[in-house]
Amino acid sequence: MALQNTNPTTTSAWQKLQKHFQEMNNASMKEMFNADKTRTSQFHLQWNDFLVDYSKNIINQDTMSLLLELANETGLKTSITQYFDGDIINQTENRAVLHTALRAKETAVIKVDGENVIPEVFEVKNKIKNFTNEVVSGARKGYTGKPFTDIVNIGIGGSDLGPVMAVEALQYYKNHLNVHFVSNVDGDHVNEVIKKLNPETTLFVIVSKTFTTQETLTNSETIKEWFLKSASQEDVAKHFVAVSTNLQKVTEFGINPDNVFPMWDWVGGRFSLWSAVGLSISLAVGFDNYNKLLAGANEMDEHFKTADFDKNVPVVLALLSVWYNNFFGAESEALIPYTQYLQKLAPYLQQGTMESNGKSVGRDGKPVDYQTGTIIWGEPGTNSQHAFFQLIHQGTKLIPTDFIGFVKPLYGNEDHHNKLMSNFFAQTEALMNGKTKEQVQAEFDKQGLSAEKAKFLLPFKVFSGNKPTNTILIEKLTPKSLGSLVALYEHKIFVQGIIWNIFSYDQWGVELGKQLANSILDEIHSKKVNAHDSSTEFLLNHFLKNK
Ligand code: F6P
Repeated sequence: MALQNTNPTTTSAWQKLQKHFQEMNNASMKEMFNADKTRTSQFHLQWNDFLVDYSKNIINQDTMSLLLELANETGLKTSITQYFDGDIINQTENRAVLHTALRAKETAVIKVDGENVIPEVFEVKNKIKNFTNEVVSGARKGYTGKPFTDIVNIGIGGSDLGPVMAVEALQYYKNHLNVHFVSNVDGDHVNEVIKKLNPETTLFVIVSKTFTTQETLTNSETIKEWFLKSASQEDVAKHFVAVSTNLQKVTEFGINPDNVFPMWDWVGGRFSLWSAVGLSISLAVGFDNYNKLLAGANEMDEHFKTADFDKNVPVVLALLSVWYNNFFGAESEALIPYTQYLQKLAPYLQQGTMESNGKSVGRDGKPVDYQTGTIIWGEPGTNSQHAFFQLIHQGTKLIPTDFIGFVKPLYGNEDHHNKLMSNFFAQTEALMNGKTKEQVQAEFDKQGLSAEKAKFLLPFKVFSGNKPTNTILIEKLTPKSLGSLVALYEHKIFVQGIIWNIFSYDQWGVELGKQLANSILDEIHSKKVNAHDSSTEFLLNHFLKNK
């Protein structure tokens, strides 16, 4: 069954939200907190070891009721069932969207074209497990009989960002293997990685769903060429494995079919870390930890599937984001994890969010007349406080921000963790409360500042406050909590796509640039510039003359 097709602006909830926005536009969170001491208890959710406080938002109970009404009117409940049941919800590519099946329990039954896919999923999981154990234990050896010390993941987009993010996030749980990533077609990137490697002890994992991606194939060929300087063609089979749906192309490359980890077309690239695309994660942290990552995601799936919408973490966060995006006109959202381990979370979710919901045609095939996908960006705190927080505090743009923090540090360094977390709490408080003229003046008086200086400085030191934030406070960064956190954001993306009435699981927008790059590459090879706009011609001629 196709997804419901409703322009959200035609719903009665949308009309009511527009009216309601007029009342809330100038509402003060500080005043709402002062007027209602139960506000935090009304606007927070406790799920497993996640505490999600969304009380520091420009909302009241009416806002939440109307947003929930919008979710109902746009058919969210049925859409969730269709998503988990393997309906063809990626209609423009005629595919199901079933990354959730990759982390389902072995007893689950999830059908694609009438076939239960769970046994196949577990077959591949077992293959990942055995392979990981052999590499980590040293039982699997390179062409000179030495165990592997280094792993190189070669892939781009979803075949890189998920593994990079998770390996970085789970560094604390890592074993002795060094894991490297090569993604950019920039030759300097691959050369910098090669510099660190010994061909005898390096295992290459080529990850490409299609096995046609220019960047990944170019990097794989360059690495193979370098490898063959010390090894023979036969040795390729020992050192190169692949994750792909394209068995023919993989075999042509020289990879032993036994060393191919299959994936399926119902797994989108940006949601594929739960498939064999996550092989490098499993190699880095061991299969048990990798499995816990999947289990954490599965727990979030169950919550998302079954919890009432007003108690459903992904639904609530998605609705709040729609509130700011479509009614306040906010264009971007920041994501600030207070742990260095999550430094790649924002780049990872940029693909998830922006490749999925960066669409301007509705499910009715017509251009949308409202805003869709938000811009996602962020860096870990406290570093980001010293970089771009000034703009969030005192700039002209409204930037709803998610703060993600952990109660316990991994190495137990109390002093550092207390300092880190005091910043975490201070920022959301400061963003909400701001600083009034009176408070600034009182500070000046205390400092004994002259009246003239105080008058000049005062406007610059006032903070308007009322900046919305969500606080996600998790017990500890573990493979399981990371799995739940990533799944939370995946489902937030889904909910928003449903409400915005767009297809979230295709990515036609990245194709045009790829096609043009191929024809320009031919021109560069032949040194003959074809007709382009005058700017592109001018630039290409400059490049060819000076290279
Ligand atoms: O950028 C477009 C895209 O198709 C992504 O969705 C995908 O993650 C990436 O390219 C890599 O594709 P592949 O795994 O087929 O090499």
